[in-house]
Amino acid sequence: MAGLAWSEKLSIDGGVIDSDHKHLLIVTGNFLQCGQGARREQLCAFIDDLEHFATAHFRREEAIQRAIEYKWAQNQNAEHIELLATLAQIRDRLHQVAAAALDDCRREIGALIRHWLIDHILNSDSGMKPYRDLIILHSGGIVPLSSEKHRSNRIIGSAKSKGLTIDHGVIDEDHRALISLINDFILEENDGYNPVKLRATIAALHAYANIHFKREEELQRAVGFPFHEAHRRAHRDLLSDLDRIGDDLLSRHSAHQHGTLSNFLREWLVEHVQDADMRMRPYVDEMKKMRSTSHPHRF
Ligand SMILES: [Fe+2]
Ligand SMILES: [Fe+2]
Ligand SMILES: [Fe+2]
Repeated sequence: MAGLAWSEKLSIDGGVIDSDHKHLLIVTGNFLQCGQGARREQLCAFIDDLEHFATAHFRREEAIQRAIEYKWAQNQNAEHIELLATLAQIRDRLHQVAAAALDDCRREIGALIRHWLIDHILNSDSGMKPYRDLIILHSGGIVPLSSEKHRSNRIIGSAKSKGLTIDHGVIDEDHRALISLINDFILEENDGYNPVKLRATIAALHAYANIHFKREEELQRAVGFPFHEAHRRAHRDLLSDLDRIGDDLLSRHSAHQHGTLSNFLREWLVEHVQDADMRMRPYVDEMKKMRSTSHPHRF
Protein backbone atom coordinates (compact mmCIF):
# COMPACT_ATOMS: atom_id res chain seq x y z
CA MET A 1 0.00 0.00 0.00
CA ALA A 2 2.79 2.41 -0.95
CA GLY A 3 1.91 6.05 -0.48
CA LEU A 4 -0.87 5.50 2.08
CA ALA A 5 0.93 4.68 5.29
CA TRP A 6 0.76 7.34 7.97
CA SER A 7 4.04 9.13 8.60
CA GLU A 8 5.06 11.97 10.91
CA LYS A 9 5.57 14.33 7.98
CA LEU A 10 1.75 14.23 7.55
CA SER A 11 1.18 15.36 11.14
CA ILE A 12 -0.56 18.75 11.56
CA ASP A 13 -1.77 19.03 15.15
CA GLY A 14 -1.12 15.74 16.92
CA GLY A 15 -4.87 15.80 17.64
CA VAL A 16 -8.23 15.70 15.91
CA ILE A 17 -7.01 16.69 12.43
CA ASP A 18 -4.35 13.99 12.45
CA SER A 19 -6.89 11.48 13.76
CA ASP A 20 -9.31 12.41 10.93
CA HIS A 21 -6.56 12.14 8.31
CA LYS A 22 -5.52 8.73 9.62
CA HIS A 23 -9.12 7.54 9.36
CA LEU A 24 -9.41 8.87 5.78
CA LEU A 25 -6.20 7.04 4.87
CA ILE A 26 -7.70 3.80 6.20
CA VAL A 27 -10.94 4.33 4.23
CA THR A 28 -8.95 5.13 1.06
CA GLY A 29 -6.83 2.04 1.70
CA ASN A 30 -10.01 -0.09 1.78
CA PHE A 31 -10.65 0.83 -1.86
CA LEU A 32 -7.04 0.15 -2.85
CA GLN A 33 -7.18 -3.27 -1.23
CA CYS A 34 -9.94 -4.37 -3.62
CA GLY A 35 -8.34 -6.79 -6.02
CA GLN A 36 -9.17 -8.04 -9.47
CA GLY A 37 -12.78 -9.12 -9.82
CA ALA A 38 -14.12 -6.72 -7.18
CA ARG A 39 -17.83 -6.11 -7.65
CA ARG A 40 -19.12 -2.75 -8.85
CA GLU A 41 -21.39 -2.32 -5.80
CA GLN A 42 -18.47 -3.00 -3.47
CA LEU A 43 -16.26 -0.40 -5.20
CA CYS A 44 -19.08 2.17 -5.22
CA ALA A 45 -19.73 1.52 -1.51
CA PHE A 46 -16.08 2.30 -0.69
CA ILE A 47 -16.29 5.59 -2.61
CA ASP A 48 -19.55 6.39 -0.73
CA ASP A 49 -17.67 5.74 2.54
CA LEU A 50 -14.89 8.05 1.47
CA GLU A 51 -17.36 10.77 0.47
CA HIS A 52 -19.15 10.53 3.83
CA PHE A 53 -16.01 10.71 5.97
CA ALA A 54 -14.29 13.32 3.79
CA THR A 55 -17.39 15.56 3.97
CA ALA A 56 -17.43 15.19 7.77
CA HIS A 57 -13.71 15.95 8.01
CA PHE A 58 -13.74 18.96 5.66
CA ARG A 59 -16.69 20.44 7.52
CA ARG A 60 -14.99 20.32 10.93
CA GLU A 61 -11.58 21.28 9.56
CA GLU A 62 -13.19 24.41 8.06
CA ALA A 63 -14.97 25.15 11.37
CA ILE A 64 -11.62 24.98 13.17
CA GLN A 65 -10.04 27.20 10.50
CA ARG A 66 -12.77 29.82 10.98
CA ALA A 67 -12.29 29.68 14.75
CA ILE A 68 -8.51 30.22 14.51
CA GLU A 69 -8.91 32.80 11.69
CA TYR A 70 -6.70 30.76 9.39
CA LYS A 71 -5.65 32.99 6.51
CA TRP A 72 -5.97 30.26 3.82
CA ALA A 73 -9.44 29.17 4.91
CA GLN A 74 -11.08 30.23 1.62
CA ASN A 75 -8.53 28.38 -0.49
CA GLN A 76 -9.07 25.29 1.67
CA ASN A 77 -12.83 25.49 1.17
CA ALA A 78 -12.36 25.70 -2.62
CA GLU A 79 -9.98 22.71 -2.58
CA HIS A 80 -12.36 20.67 -0.44
CA ILE A 81 -15.21 21.33 -2.89
CA GLU A 82 -12.96 20.20 -5.73
CA LEU A 83 -11.87 17.04 -3.89
CA LEU A 84 -15.51 16.08 -3.27
CA ALA A 85 -16.39 16.83 -6.91
CA THR A 86 -13.58 14.48 -7.98
CA LEU A 87 -15.01 11.74 -5.78
CA ALA A 88 -18.49 12.26 -7.25
CA GLN A 89 -17.03 11.94 -10.77
CA ILE A 90 -15.19 8.77 -9.74
CA ARG A 91 -18.45 7.36 -8.34
CA ASP A 92 -20.25 8.15 -11.62
CA ARG A 93 -17.51 6.46 -13.63
CA LEU A 94 -17.65 3.30 -11.53
CA HIS A 95 -21.41 3.26 -11.82
CA GLN A 96 -21.44 3.67 -15.61
CA VAL A 97 -18.39 1.75 -16.85
CA ALA A 98 -19.07 -1.44 -18.83
CA ALA A 99 -18.61 -4.63 -16.81
CA ALA A 100 -15.72 -5.73 -19.06
CA ALA A 101 -13.82 -2.48 -18.35
CA LEU A 102 -14.52 -2.40 -14.61
CA ASP A 103 -11.16 -3.80 -13.61
CA ASP A 104 -9.13 -1.31 -15.69
CA CYS A 105 -11.31 1.44 -14.25
CA ARG A 106 -10.64 0.20 -10.69
CA ARG A 107 -6.86 0.34 -11.30
CA GLU A 108 -7.03 3.85 -12.81
CA ILE A 109 -9.14 5.12 -9.92
CA GLY A 110 -6.79 3.43 -7.44
CA ALA A 111 -3.85 5.38 -8.91
CA LEU A 112 -5.86 8.60 -8.69
CA ILE A 113 -7.08 8.30 -5.11
CA ARG A 114 -3.67 7.13 -3.89
CA HIS A 115 -2.71 10.82 -4.13
CA TRP A 116 -6.19 12.31 -3.69
CA LEU A 117 -5.76 12.94 0.04
CA ILE A 118 -2.02 12.78 0.67
CA ASP A 119 -1.18 15.55 -1.81
CA HIS A 120 -3.81 17.77 -0.19
CA ILE A 121 -2.42 17.17 3.31
CA LEU A 122 1.19 17.76 2.25
CA ASN A 123 0.59 20.74 -0.04
CA SER A 124 -2.31 22.49 1.63
CA ASP A 125 -3.25 21.27 5.14
CA SER A 126 0.43 21.52 6.17
CA GLY A 127 -0.05 25.32 6.21
CA MET A 128 -1.94 24.82 9.50
CA LYS A 129 1.13 23.40 11.31
CA PRO A 130 2.17 26.74 12.86
CA TYR A 131 -1.35 27.00 14.37
CA ARG A 132 -1.03 23.72 16.25
CA ASP A 133 -1.62 25.16 19.75
CA LEU A 134 -4.63 27.20 18.59
CA ILE A 135 -6.10 24.18 16.80
CA ILE A 136 -5.85 22.12 19.99
CA LEU A 137 -7.54 24.95 21.90
CA HIS A 138 -10.51 24.99 19.48
CA SER A 139 -10.99 21.28 18.80
CA GLY A 140 -12.01 19.96 22.19
CA GLY A 141 -14.89 17.48 22.36
CA ILE A 142 -14.91 16.59 18.65
CA VAL A 143 -16.07 13.00 18.14
CA PRO A 144 -13.51 10.87 16.19
CA LEU A 145 -14.53 9.87 12.65
CA SER A 146 -13.88 6.25 13.58
CA SER A 147 -16.67 6.38 16.19
CA GLU A 148 -19.88 4.38 15.83
CA LYS A 149 -21.82 7.66 15.53
CA HIS A 150 -20.04 8.69 12.34
CA ARG A 151 -20.07 5.16 10.95
CA SER A 152 -23.79 4.58 11.45
CA ASN A 153 -25.35 7.97 10.65
CA ARG A 154 -24.56 8.81 7.03
CA ILE A 155 -24.98 11.93 4.92
CA ILE A 156 -27.13 11.99 1.78
CA GLY A 157 -24.36 11.32 -0.74
CA SER A 158 -23.85 12.52 -4.30
CA ALA A 159 -25.17 9.26 -5.79
CA LYS A 160 -28.49 9.61 -3.96
CA SER A 161 -28.67 13.30 -4.78
CA LYS A 162 -28.14 12.56 -8.48
CA GLY A 163 -30.95 10.01 -8.40
CA LEU A 164 -33.31 12.83 -7.39
CA THR A 165 -32.70 14.85 -10.57
CA ILE A 166 -35.83 16.55 -11.88
CA ASP A 167 -35.04 19.53 -14.12
CA HIS A 168 -31.23 20.00 -14.30
CA GLY A 169 -32.03 23.51 -13.18
CA VAL A 170 -33.51 25.63 -10.44
CA ILE A 171 -35.43 22.82 -8.70
CA ASP A 172 -32.36 20.56 -8.56
CA GLU A 173 -30.23 23.44 -7.29
CA ASP A 174 -32.72 24.05 -4.49
CA HIS A 175 -32.81 20.35 -3.62
CA ARG A 176 -29.00 20.23 -3.46
CA ALA A 177 -29.03 23.21 -1.09
CA LEU A 178 -31.63 21.47 1.12
CA ILE A 179 -29.56 18.26 1.08
CA SER A 180 -26.49 20.24 2.11
CA LEU A 181 -28.37 21.66 5.13
CA ILE A 182 -29.68 18.21 6.08
CA ASN A 183 -26.12 16.87 5.81
CA ASP A 184 -24.99 19.68 8.12
CA PHE A 185 -27.60 18.51 10.62
CA ILE A 186 -26.53 14.85 10.31
CA LEU A 187 -22.86 15.70 10.86
CA GLU A 188 -23.71 18.02 13.76
CA GLU A 189 -25.71 15.21 15.34
CA ASN A 190 -22.69 12.91 14.94
CA ASP A 191 -20.42 15.46 16.58
CA GLY A 192 -22.43 15.51 19.79
CA TYR A 193 -25.95 16.50 20.77
CA ASN A 194 -25.95 20.30 20.85
CA PRO A 195 -29.63 21.41 20.71
CA VAL A 196 -28.79 25.09 20.11
CA LYS A 197 -26.67 24.30 17.02
CA LEU A 198 -29.12 21.70 15.74
CA ARG A 199 -32.01 24.12 16.14
CA ALA A 200 -30.15 26.82 14.19
CA THR A 201 -29.66 24.35 11.33
CA ILE A 202 -33.38 23.43 11.44
CA ALA A 203 -34.20 27.16 11.27
CA ALA A 204 -31.95 27.57 8.20
CA LEU A 205 -33.56 24.49 6.63
CA HIS A 206 -37.05 25.88 7.35
CA ALA A 207 -36.15 29.24 5.78
CA TYR A 208 -34.75 27.65 2.62
CA ALA A 209 -37.55 25.07 2.35
CA ASN A 210 -40.11 27.88 2.59
CA ILE A 211 -38.47 29.71 -0.33
CA HIS A 212 -38.12 26.52 -2.37
CA PHE A 213 -41.70 25.38 -1.79
CA LYS A 214 -43.06 28.76 -2.87
CA ARG A 215 -40.90 28.66 -5.99
CA GLU A 216 -42.13 25.16 -6.85
CA GLU A 217 -45.76 26.13 -6.23
CA GLU A 218 -45.44 29.20 -8.48
CA LEU A 219 -43.96 27.12 -11.28
CA GLN A 220 -46.71 24.52 -10.83
CA ARG A 221 -49.44 27.14 -11.02
CA ALA A 222 -47.86 28.69 -14.10
CA VAL A 223 -47.91 25.40 -16.05
CA GLY A 224 -51.26 24.10 -14.73
CA PHE A 225 -49.71 21.19 -12.80
CA PRO A 226 -52.72 18.95 -11.98
CA PHE A 227 -51.51 17.91 -8.49
CA HIS A 228 -50.81 21.47 -7.42
CA GLU A 229 -53.26 21.66 -4.53
CA ALA A 230 -52.21 18.34 -2.94
CA HIS A 231 -48.58 19.36 -3.42
CA ARG A 232 -49.16 22.68 -1.67
CA ARG A 233 -50.72 20.85 1.30
CA ALA A 234 -47.76 18.43 1.40
CA HIS A 235 -45.38 21.41 1.56
CA ARG A 236 -47.36 22.93 4.41
CA ASP A 237 -47.13 19.62 6.34
CA LEU A 238 -43.38 19.42 5.68
CA LEU A 239 -42.87 22.87 7.19
CA SER A 240 -44.98 21.85 10.22
CA ASP A 241 -42.66 18.86 10.67
CA LEU A 242 -39.71 21.24 10.89
CA ASP A 243 -41.57 23.49 13.36
CA ARG A 244 -42.20 20.44 15.55
CA ILE A 245 -38.53 19.37 15.47
CA GLY A 246 -37.43 22.93 16.25
CA ASP A 247 -39.80 23.14 19.25
CA ASP A 248 -38.72 19.70 20.40
CA LEU A 249 -35.06 20.72 20.29
CA LEU A 250 -35.89 23.94 22.11
CA SER A 251 -37.60 22.11 24.98
CA ARG A 252 -34.42 19.99 25.35
CA HIS A 253 -36.37 17.57 27.51
CA SER A 254 -36.48 14.58 25.22
CA ALA A 255 -33.32 12.53 25.01
CA HIS A 256 -33.20 11.51 21.35
CA GLN A 257 -31.72 8.25 20.32
CA HIS A 258 -28.70 8.98 18.16
CA GLY A 259 -29.57 9.37 14.48
CA THR A 260 -33.35 9.48 14.94
CA LEU A 261 -33.74 13.08 13.81
CA SER A 262 -31.22 12.61 11.01
CA ASN A 263 -33.19 9.60 9.74
CA PHE A 264 -36.37 11.61 9.87
CA LEU A 265 -34.88 14.50 7.88
CA ARG A 266 -33.32 12.22 5.25
CA GLU A 267 -36.72 10.64 4.60
CA TRP A 268 -38.50 13.99 4.99
CA LEU A 269 -36.80 15.29 1.84
CA VAL A 270 -36.05 12.16 -0.18
CA GLU A 271 -39.59 10.73 0.04
CA HIS A 272 -41.21 14.03 -0.94
CA VAL A 273 -38.91 14.47 -3.93
CA GLN A 274 -39.31 10.86 -5.05
CA ASP A 275 -43.07 10.62 -4.52
CA ALA A 276 -44.35 14.13 -5.22
CA ASP A 277 -41.74 16.33 -6.94
CA MET A 278 -40.98 13.64 -9.55
CA ARG A 279 -44.48 14.17 -10.90
CA MET A 280 -43.26 17.55 -12.17
CA ARG A 281 -40.84 15.91 -14.63
CA PRO A 282 -43.20 15.97 -17.65
CA TYR A 283 -43.71 19.70 -17.01
CA VAL A 284 -40.09 20.86 -16.62
CA ASP A 285 -39.65 22.08 -20.22
CA GLU A 286 -42.61 24.36 -19.76
CA MET A 287 -41.33 25.41 -16.33
CA LYS A 288 -37.95 26.33 -17.84
CA LYS A 289 -39.65 29.14 -19.71
CA MET A 290 -40.60 30.63 -16.34
CA ARG A 291 -37.04 30.51 -14.98
CA SER A 292 -36.06 33.94 -16.24
CA THR A 293 -38.20 35.33 -13.44
CA SER A 294 -37.19 32.75 -10.80
CA HIS A 295 -33.69 32.40 -9.33
CA PRO A 296 -32.52 30.07 -6.55
CA HIS A 297 -31.99 31.85 -3.30
CA ARG A 298 -28.50 31.36 -1.89
CA PHE A 299 -27.34 31.65 1.67
FE1 LIG B 1 -7.68 17.85 6.09
FE1 LIG C 1 -38.97 20.18 -4.05
FE1 LIG D 1 -42.31 19.76 -3.61
